[in-house]
This record gives sequence, structure tokens and C-alpha cells, in this order.
Amino acid sequence: MRRLIRAASALGLLAGAVHGLQVDFTSDDSIKQAASTVAYGLLKYYTGNNTGDTPGNLPDPYFWWEAGAMFGTMVDYWFLTGDESYVEVTKQALVHQAGDDQDYMPTNQTRTMGNDDQGFWAMAAMSAAENNFPNPPADQPQWLALAQAVFNEYVDRWDPETCNGGLRWQVFTFNNGYNYKNSISNGCFFNIAARLARYTGNQTYADWAEKVWDWMEEVGFIDEDFNVFDGAGVEAGCTEFSKPQWTYNAGIFLHGAAVMYNVYNASLGMDNGIGGGNDTASEVWAQRTQGMMRRTVDFFYNGTGVPTEHSCEPFNQCNIDQQSFKGYLMRWMTGTALMAPFTFDTLMPLVQSAAAAAALQCSGSPPADQFRGDPGTACGFKWTQGAVFDGQVGVGEQMSALSAIQYTLVKKAEVGGQDKVPVTANSGGTSIGNVNAGASTESKIPTPKPISTAERVAAGFATTAMLFSVLGGSFFVMKD
Ligand SMILES: *[C@@H]1O[C@H](CO)[C@@H](O)[C@H](O)[C@H]1NC(C)=O
Ligand SMILES: *[C@@H]1O[C@H](CO)[C@@H](O)[C@H](O)[C@H]1NC(C)=O
Ligand SMILES: *[C@@H]1O[C@H](CO)[C@@H](O)[C@H](O)[C@H]1NC(C)=O
Ligand SMILES: *[C@@H]1O[C@H](CO)[C@@H](O)[C@H](O)[C@H]1NC(C)=O
Ligand SMILES: *[C@@H]1O[C@H](CO)[C@@H](O)[C@H](O)[C@H]1NC(C)=O
Ligand SMILES: *[C@@H]1O[C@H](CO)[C@@H](O)[C@H](O)[C@H]1NC(C)=O
Repeated sequence: MRRLIRAASALGLLAGAVHGLQVDFTSDDSIKQAASTVAYGLLKYYTGNNTGDTPGNLPDPYFWWEAGAMFGTMVDYWFLTGDESYVEVTKQALVHQAGDDQDYMPTNQTRTMGNDDQGFWAMAAMSAAENNFPNPPADQPQWLALAQAVFNEYVDRWDPETCNGGLRWQVFTFNNGYNYKNSISNGCFFNIAARLARYTGNQTYADWAEKVWDWMEEVGFIDEDFNVFDGAGVEAGCTEFSKPQWTYNAGIFLHGAAVMYNVYNASLGMDNGIGGGNDTASEVWAQRTQGMMRRTVDFFYNGTGVPTEHSCEPFNQCNIDQQSFKGYLMRWMTGTALMAPFTFDTLMPLVQSAAAAAALQCSGSPPADQFRGDPGTACGFKWTQGAVFDGQVGVGEQMSALSAIQYTLVKKAEVGGQDKVPVTANSGGTSIGNVNAGASTESKIPTPKPISTAERVAAGFATTAMLFSVLGGSFFVMKD
């Protein structure tokens, strides 16, 4: 498949044509071929399976969480395309980064461990369970148990002492951002809890999802119009918001709400116990899903067929993390369409129009230090620019384009019980769980070692960068 594309783009060069990836969205084969090409370019960034490197890590400047997001994307890639090329690297990464306590808190990442970082790995494991991604050998951590471990740790870290609840951003007191509560960390908790409820049929998970949502509304991180704001410091009791709205925050709550709707609507296949048939709950979650969907589409698509990362994209200020967010929006819009069928006709055409725009951006041929996939298939960032390659490339851009393209493989006929709908323990799921998985945060606090000069410099940099962005009027806490 890749050889075909290579030949095609060489011809394109000869003819002097400049165009993005060619995709016929009416043909599954064409979509799969395009996805394969983009995935190839994405995985070329990955060095974790090289001899001497650490499985699961991306090289600098990519933070650890983004690797978790990438392998979550690759779980879906395998599921949707059937391409087995990356199953082994994905499995190896997801198992290795589980760490000593089998909970996605490897000690190597202690210095920057946020609840959201851990959450992106846990969501990858959850997707693996829901998609029946090949299970690891029995003596290794299992997908469902990994998600449960992270859920259990979130429950332990729920913090009513400040802001009347919620998770803090960072796990450890000694890290920058411990005094900040944010939507994405609580979004990870909400999303994982809702999906565990659906997968296992255990009411406790649904109750926690409800509790997180209620808190988000109470504190105002989700307002009455379903805007989702970034977060707030605990010092002022979470009253002084950092206001940027990000696609991934909208997406993670949209999807979780749709899963909750699915859990409570008896006719959607949740026949394994909880709440099923509670029409009131089903109605409540349908309204929340609807509200989140409307606002997400209005705000990020703004009457066009293409989403924009409004808080940074128009002025070229998106950092490495933010360059990947639109991909998760694609993931969660599609997940929503599968969980809440009434959203399908709104959301999936918008995934497809985004995919078409993203594919047009996949026309770059940057130098090898920036991209090592097939020439002419590096994906740019601004999907609104049509075929004018914007020159911004990296894991985020490549993963986002891959996401948009691969999720168009979800077809309406499959909604409501065909083979693309995530499984549960009752409908063919094979992953083994452990309700008691996880470890205490205290047990993980490292014995203090002298802070190195490099770390002092890094901390100084973070502080400067933070001041800079406060002055710049757009406050978001940065990691060191
Ligand atoms: C790492 O994984 C990629 C993608 O599957 C593969 O092409 C490459 O050969 C692997 N590298 C090593 C050293 O195994
Ligand atoms: C932690 O770092 C060491 C040294 O680089 C490496 O050997 C090990 O595999 C890493 N562990 C994880 C879980 O990443
Ligand atoms: C449950 O789902 C079915 C099928 O999508 C739908 O017709 C029904 O209105 C839903 N029930 C509630 C209470 O939302
Ligand atoms: C049904 O759901 C509503 C709304 O979440 C809740 O208030 C009510 O207690 C539930 N009823 C039962 C019988 O679980
Ligand atoms: C949305 O579109 C309108 C009109 O097309 C434009 O004026 C406005 O600036 C856009 N909003 C954002 C947030 O881009
Ligand atoms: C449901 O989940 C809770 C929370 O993890 C756990 O304590 C309980 O044992 C679970 N119940 C069943 C029946 O598995």
C-alpha cells in the first residue's frame, strides 16, 4: 500500500502537482490506505522500540502523556483498519509504561505526573479493553485492570478540602501545578468512570462519573451553556478561572456524557445490571450530551466543516501538547456517535469534513529531522487552510490527521450493536479486571534527593514561561 502511494507522490512531483493525500471517503479501502500512510509517518517519530531506548516513550520534545495518547490512537487504528503492523509495538508500550504498580505511574515520570498524563494512558488501556485489543500474557498487567487501577487512585485523590471537590492537576505536592484544578484531569476521571460503568455494569463507577460531572457544573468549569473552561487555582477556591477552551476538554466530557446515556438507556444494550431502564437518568444524560454537542460544534467548528483550536491556532501559539488536541476531539466525537445514536447524523459528517480538510494538509515534505514518513505525506496543523501546507509538523499534527481519517471508517449501519461498537464484559469483552488494582499515592513519594542544577534551570524556565503567558493574557500553567 505504501509503495503505491510513494509512486503516486513521485508522479505528482514530476507533474509539478501539489496536493495532499488522496482519499475517497466513499471507499473503505481508500480510507484505510490513507490511514496507513499517515500512521507510517506517525510511528516514524517513535524510537521507544529501538535497542537501548525505553518502550512507550517518545523522544523530546514530546511529553510522556502524548505517547499514551498516541498508543490509544493506535489501538483504534488497529480496530478500525484491521492493520496489524503496529500491534506489537503498541502492546509493548502499553505494558511497559504500566510501571511497577501496574497503574501508569512509572517512577521515571514522577517529576511531571499529572492526573491527566496518567489518564491518557489509562484511556488507551480502556480502549484496548473495549476493542478487544490482543490481551497481554496472563503474568502481565491487563487492560481493564489498568483502567480500574487509575480509577481507584483518582477516587483516593478526590479532594473536597479545596473547591469542594475535584482532582488537582498534579499528583504530587512538589510539582508545579499541584495548586491547580483543571477540566482535563477531571475529564479523564469522568470519562474512565463512565466507560468502566458501561464495561463492567458496576454502579459505583456510574456514581463517580455523576459526581465528577456535578462538581464540574457546581464549580463552573462547565457553565450553563456547556462551555468547558481550562481550570482554576485552589487558593481562591477555584473562582478565578483560566478561561481558554480546548477541543479536548469539550470532547472528553461530550463522550463521557454519551457513555452515561448509553449506560442508562436500557434499549441500547446495557443489559448487565446498573441503572438500565432509568428513563429519568437516560433523559438527563441525553440532554447533557445534546448540550455538549451543540456547544462543541458551535464553538470549535463555528459554522464551518472544520474545527479550529481557537485559543492558540489563529495566532500560531499552540504548544506541542495543544497541537495534538483536535485529534482527541475526532476520537470523542466518533465515540459519542457510537454511544448516543441521536448524535450520529450531526457528528459524523463533521468528522468526515474535518478528515477531508486534514488530508489536504498531509502534503508536506519537510527535512528528515522533522519527518521521516513518505515524502509528500507530512500533515500540517491548520485544517482550515485547505491544500496550502502550513509547515507545522510533528506527532500532534500527524496523529490528529490520522484520527480524523480513521474515524470516518465508522458507519451508521454499525451503530446500535454491530462490530464497531465498543464491547462490554457482557458482550464479548475478554479483558480481565481487578476492582482492587492501584496503589496509594503516599507509597510513591520518592525519597528526597538533592535537586540538580539542570532541574533548577528547568524550574526557573517554567516560572518565567508562566509569567510570560500571564502577561500575554492567556494563562496556562506550564510543566517543567
Ligand atoms: C519499531 O517498530 C516499528 C513499527 O512497527 C518497526 O518498523 C521497527 O522495525 C521497530 N524497530 C525495532 C528496532 O524493532
Ligand atoms: C525508566 O528509566 C530506565 C532508565 O532509562 C529504563 O531502563 C526503564 O525502562 C524506565 N521505565 C519505564 C517504566 O519507563
Ligand atoms: C433510548 O434509546 C432508544 C433508541 O435509541 C430511544 O428511542 C429512546 O428514546 C431512548 N430512551 C430515552 C429515555 O432516552
Ligand atoms: C434515576 O435517575 C435519576 C437521575 O439521575 C435519579 O435521580 C434517580 O434516583 C434514579 N432512579 C433510580 C430508581 O435509580
Ligand atoms: C465565528 O465566525 C464568525 C463569522 O463567520 C466570526 O466573525 C467569528 O470571529 C468566528 N468566531 C471564532 C471564535 O473564530
Ligand atoms: C464495584 O466497584 C467498586 C469500586 O471499585 C468495588 O469496591 C466493588 O467491589 C465492585 N463491585 C463488584 C460487584 O465488582
